[in-house]
Order: sequence, then C-alpha cells, then structure tokens
Amino acid sequence: MVVEALTKYGISRLVGVDIIPEAKQAMERDRPQYYDAYYITDFCNINSDTQDEFAAWSLDCLTTVAALGFGDIPPKAFMNAFNILNQKGWVGFNIKESFLDETDQSGFSRMIRDLILSKYLDVYHLERYRHRLSIDGEPLFYFAIVGKKNADAPIEYLEKYLDDPE
Ligand SMILES: C[S@@+](CC[C@H](N)C(=O)[O-])C[C@H]1O[C@@H](n2cnc3c(N)ncnc32)[C@H](O)[C@@H]1O
Repeated sequence: MVVEALTKYGISRLVGVDIIPEAKQAMERDRPQYYDAYYITDFCNINSDTQDEFAAWSLDCLTTVAALGFGDIPPKAFMNAFNILNQKGWVGFNIKESFLDETDQSGFSRMIRDLILSKYLDVYHLERYRHRLSIDGEPLFYFAIVGKKNADAPIEYLEKYLDDPE
C-alpha cells in the first residue's frame, strides 16, 4: 500500500525486502506491478551475493511503515538496511510515539532515539500524527520521520543495542 502511494510521486525503481516468503507472495498477489525486485532476505545476515545485488541497485531511499518497534524488526536489521543505502539517501519511517520516550529503554527505542540525534542522519521532518484508532476507539499517535543519511553507522555504534532484540 505504501509503494502504491509512493509511485504517485514518481519512483524510477523499487525494491522490496522481507524475511518471509509469504510477504513476497502477498506482494505478487496484490501489487506486483509496482516492484522491480523483491528479496526474501534476513537483514540481520545478508550474504555477500545479496549484498552485491543491493549495491548494484544504488538505493537512494529507504522506507518502512508501521514495522518498527514491538519487536517486529531487530535493531540490527534496520541498521543493516540503513547502511545499504547510498550516502545522502533519504530515510522515511514512522514509529509509535512511546518508542521515542526515554522511559522506553528497549534496544530498539534507544537505537532510534540515538540515530535521530546522531551524525549519521540529518532529520528534515518530524511530525506527530494520529496513526489510527485503537479497537476501543482511542487515538494512537505516531511520529513520521524523514531524514537524510550522512554516513554508514559503524558496527561499534550498533553493538550497544544488540543485546536487546526488541
Ligand atoms: C510489522 S511487519 C510490516 C510488514 C509490511 N509493512 C507489510 O505490510 O507487509 C514487519 C515485517 O518485517 C519483517 N522482518 C522481520 N525481521 C526481519 C529481518 N531480519 N529481515 C527482513 N525482514 C524482517 C517481517 O517478516 C514482517 O513482514
């Protein structure tokens, strides 16, 4: 659905990734026309052939929607994706507002907060918005974040978050 929305703004090529084959099957069933390639890959352990293929795409934008936090994607997977992106590439994602609160000490929350303030990413846009209503009708607020990558995050930067898969 995100890809469909993005193509209205003009995208030359689009590459999707997920760890499970069912995600690719869903893409083939629902929106195959939008993708140039779709990889079934564990972003925590990308083999060198796939790494070379990603490099050949020369990716200049990374996006993930409603997929960060809740233990859905390990911090390492997100940072490996970040590091695949070209220097000065755009990064756009959303995140539930509580994950940016410093009372949340999970590895994922600490990583995202640090990344936003780090020299590896320049934040261009940060907006709190009502993402949806909960099943009991309460508004759930998220932050939409858009930034530009400055440089790869070194492995030493990532290591302090790896003890916590959340
Ligand atoms: C909350 S879901 C979002 C799915 C996607 N937005 C969609 O609608 O199909 C998070 C996705 O991250 C994938 N994922 C989790 N760990 C991953 C990893 N290490 N490498 C690649 N994908 C991963 C999951 O399989 C899941 O489909």
